[in-house]
Amino acid sequence: MSFASTHKVCIAPMMQYTDMHDRYLLRLISKRVFLYTEMVTTGAILYGKCFHQLEYNQEEHPVSVQLGGSEIKDLVESAKISENYGYDEINLNVGCPSDRVQKGRFGACLMLEPNHVADCLSAMKNNVSIPVSIKCRLGVDHHDTYEFLYNFVEIVKESGVNDFIIHSRNGILKGLSPRQNRNIPPLKYDYVYKLKEDFPDLNIVINGGIKNINECKTHLTKVDGVMIGRAAYENPFLIKDIDSEIYGLEPVLKSKKAILNQYLDYVEEKLEQGYELSKMMKHLFGLSRGDKYAKTFRIKILEVMKKESLKGHRQDLEDLLFY
Ligand SMILES: Cc1cc2nc3c(=O)[nH]c(=O)nc-3n(C[C@H](O)[C@H](O)[C@H](O)COP(=O)(O)O)c2cc1C
Repeated sequence: MSFASTHKVCIAPMMQYTDMHDRYLLRLISKRVFLYTEMVTTGAILYGKCFHQLEYNQEEHPVSVQLGGSEIKDLVESAKISENYGYDEINLNVGCPSDRVQKGRFGACLMLEPNHVADCLSAMKNNVSIPVSIKCRLGVDHHDTYEFLYNFVEIVKESGVNDFIIHSRNGILKGLSPRQNRNIPPLKYDYVYKLKEDFPDLNIVINGGIKNINECKTHLTKVDGVMIGRAAYENPFLIKDIDSEIYGLEPVLKSKKAILNQYLDYVEEKLEQGYELSKMMKHLFGLSRGDKYAKTFRIKILEVMKKESLKGHRQDLEDLLFY
């Protein structure tokens, strides 16, 4: 299947949010959205003790692992390990503006080094057989013109990597926190549309501020795919009509109650394997979004997290959901 047919709607990589449990929940709601892990640094993979960072559930496919790093050797090694884990794609993070990431010389600051990014990508691409993609910004700091983005992409595509996910904002490396960097720099969708016009052979996924399926449809008239981040986390049920409305599949007829029950079955199974209850339950906060008893549902989840036990609460939770 082509990139454009598999990546029409993607879920953004989000640290602390899109962990394996959240991705499992999202996969219960949509069979087709393309999932991304949180960023995993090459340091964590190669030198950390946390091998579980690459762990995922088989049900999550298609799923891409997002790597953070800039040492070619480390990226290649991490890409190979990720391929062995069975991921469907490797994505390189060239969009994160945090101080910690800049100190490691990776993330958004790499937009100032397009030749090095191209070298990283081509080395990874040459050493794995799964696709390699990049997620970047429009530019960084005062480098905010369309020409800067055009030049970056023109150099990077020489790596042979054709799949670009673009967060449609500039990254500000000094003076704005990562959170502010997701809200303050203005969205410039027109840059991303123009990029697709100028590089019709590249696969372009647009990201930033996309809130619903209608907006996805509008963007899809201009680019190959859309990526949704916060809106899908805050309201996971948002993605329920994507399979039918975007991919033309039979509608998923599951209710929120059914999703909740399937997810809680998963939680119980994972509890037995030693996973932490609160890390799994927190992803349910958004499921009641828009419902009459949304607040009570969230309070109940907090109670379960505090008691560190689901016992006796499943029915209460189900009853608090609208349908
Ligand atoms: C809590 C949080 C963590 C994030 N972590 C990552 C990350 O690990 N890698 C990455 O490329 N982007 C990360 N992002 C940025 C998102 O992938 C996305 O580009 C951004 O939120 C804009 O999309 P949205 O407006 O649909 O949320 C993160 C965003 C949030 C809110």
